[in-house]
Amino acid sequence: MFETFIFICLCSWIHICLLGVFGVDEVKSVSVMEGDSVTLNTDDTDIQRNDQILWRFGHNNILIAQINRKNNKSKCHYNNAAGRFRDRLQLDHQTGSLSITNTTTTDSGLYKVTSSRTETPLSTFNLTVYAHLPVPVVSRDCASSSSSSQQNCSLVCSVVNVGHVTLSWYKGNSLLSSISVSDLSISLSLPLEVEYQDKNSYSCVLNNPISNQTQHLDITQLCHTCEGRTCGDISIYLLKHGLTILYVVLISAAAAGFLLIVAAVMIFCTCRKHKEVNHVGKYDLMLIHL
Ligand SMILES: *[C@@H]1O[C@H](CO)[C@@H](O)[C@H](O)[C@H]1NC(C)=O
Ligand SMILES: *[C@@H]1O[C@H](CO)[C@@H](O)[C@H](O)[C@H]1NC(C)=O
Ligand SMILES: *[C@@H]1O[C@H](CO)[C@@H](O)[C@H](O)[C@H]1NC(C)=O
Ligand SMILES: *[C@@H]1O[C@H](CO)[C@@H](O)[C@H](O)[C@H]1NC(C)=O
Ligand SMILES: *[C@@H]1O[C@H](CO)[C@@H](O)[C@H](O)[C@H]1NC(C)=O
Repeated sequence: MFETFIFICLCSWIHICLLGVFGVDEVKSVSVMEGDSVTLNTDDTDIQRNDQILWRFGHNNILIAQINRKNNKSKCHYNNAAGRFRDRLQLDHQTGSLSITNTTTTDSGLYKVTSSRTETPLSTFNLTVYAHLPVPVVSRDCASSSSSSQQNCSLVCSVVNVGHVTLSWYKGNSLLSSISVSDLSISLSLPLEVEYQDKNSYSCVLNNPISNQTQHLDITQLCHTCEGRTCGDISIYLLKHGLTILYVVLISAAAAGFLLIVAAVMIFCTCRKHKEVNHVGKYDLMLIHL
C-alpha cells in the first residue's frame, strides 16, 4: 500500500518535471490548401521578448529566416532549403510571425522558432499543405459485370494522383465503404455493386481533412452503358461507324451496278460480233458457192 503511494507520488513528480522541461515544445498543427497563404503565428510573449529569433524548417532544421530586433533587421535565407521558399516568405518584426505565400504541398513539415541563445525550439509548427482534390470518377466495371448476376451492376469509383485522402461510397447519408491512403501520388479505386432497379441515391466522396469532392451516381445512365453487351456494342458501333458503313454499302452497290453494266455491254458487243462473224461467214459461203 505504502509502496504504491510512493510509486504514484514519484510518477506524478516525474510527470510534472517532464511537463516543466518539455511543456513549451508542444507542436501546433496548421493546415492549408495548396496555393493559399499561411501565417505561423508566434503569439507567445516569450518569443517576442527575444532580441533575435530564427525560423528553421524540416528535420534538418534548415535556417530559412531570422529577425534581429536590436538593429531592426530581418533576413530570409532563400538559397537554403534548395531554394524552395524563394520570394514567398514574409516576416513580422513585431510579433516574429512567419508568412508563406502561394504554398505548395512540399512546404509541409515542421517549422521551429528558436532564439539565438538556445537550440530548444520556443515554438514548433506542423504545417500540412493539402493538394486540391480532383472529382472522383465513377465508371461501370464491365469485366466483373459479365460474371455477376443479371440483376446487379458493378461499379467502381476511382481517383489518380492523390495522397493523404479517403475515398468513400455513401448511400444517402450513410457510409457504405471507404479506403484511405497516407502515401503521396497514388491511384485509388473502390467497387460498389448495385441493383439495376435501385432507386437510392449513391455518391462517391473523396476527402482530406480540410476539403472534399463528391460525385453523384446515376444508376440508370451508368448501368446501361454495357448492359446486354452484344446489343449495346453493336448499336454503339453502328452509331460511331454508321456513315462509314453507309458509304461502303453505297460504293459497293455502285461498283456492282457498274460491273453489271460493263458485263451487259460486253455481252451485247460479243453477241453483235458473233452476228457479224456469222454474216461474214455467210458471205464467204455465198462467195464460195458463187
Ligand atoms: C523597424 O522597422 C520597421 C519597418 O521595417 C519600422 O516601421 C519601425 O519603426 C522600425 N523600428 C525601429 C525601432 O527602428
Ligand atoms: C504560385 O505557384 C505556382 C507554381 O508553383 C505558379 O505557377 C503561380 O504563378 C504562383 N502564383 C503566385 C500568385 O505567385
Ligand atoms: C504533422 O501532421 C501530419 C498530418 O496531420 C501528421 O501525419 C504528422 O505525423 C505530424 N507530424 C508531427 C511531427 O507531429
Ligand atoms: C447484388 O447486389 C446487392 C447489393 O446491391 C447484394 O446484396 C447482392 O448480394 C448482389 N447479388 C449478387 C448475386 O451478386
Ligand atoms: C464536404 O464538405 C462540405 C463543406 O465544404 C461539408 O458540408 C460536407 O459535410 C462534407 N462532406 C463530407 C462527406 O465530408
